[in-house]
Amino acid sequence: MRLVFATHNAHKLNEVRNILCAYAEEQGTSPIELMGLEDLKCYDDIPENESTLEGNARAKADFVFSRFSVDCFADDTGLEIEALGGEPGVYSARYAGEGHDSFANRKKVMDLMQGICNRKARFRTVVALRLGGEEHLFEGVVNGIITESEHGTGGFGYDSIFQPDGFDRTFAELDIKTKNSISHRGMAMRKLVEFLVNYKK
Ligand code: IMP
Repeated sequence: MRLVFATHNAHKLNEVRNILCAYAEEQGTSPIELMGLEDLKCYDDIPENESTLEGNARAKADFVFSRFSVDCFADDTGLEIEALGGEPGVYSARYAGEGHDSFANRKKVMDLMQGICNRKARFRTVVALRLGGEEHLFEGVVNGIITESEHGTGGFGYDSIFQPDGFDRTFAELDIKTKNSISHRGMAMRKLVEFLVNYKK
């Protein structure tokens, strides 16, 4: 089966390919062949103007489906920090402002969280699948805390300040296989694959 992942982010594409391969290995099936937007020669900046993760994931999948008529899915992820009323949430990629990078986003979070005891946070991913005329949503959540300082050099985004529950290391200190096995995106993608496997039957 071939499916388009509506993303320009090579890191995410690779992470999801690894999740699909691990799942196929586990199940003894062949992995779903995943293509990114570059494979479609789609270089458009897909708008992410909705106010929810669900809205953005649906909008991105709809955009690709209407433009290329291919089975596809899109995801949207947010870091939701309890003490910040769920922020940065849907604004995670541009929390420090448009044109800012992950370093600035993490710094803003660390500054806002200074002196705050409630460090509870979660990553939440929503995946929107467009399969023919149908649309399906899948969600993955991982709970954890925002650390007092940065740890680790792996991963991306907020990985170095997020420690998942049950671990004494941040996402940036975990190997990619371990991260994928517990992460928000891993959980949402496994739900997606399980759906697709059963859909084919
Ligand atoms: P996206 O919807 O997957 O593009 O994620 C939005 C933003 O959330 C990204 O730009 C990252 O800053 C952050 N983010 C998403 N997934 C992760 C993750 O697995 N680790 C750390 N940060 C992430």
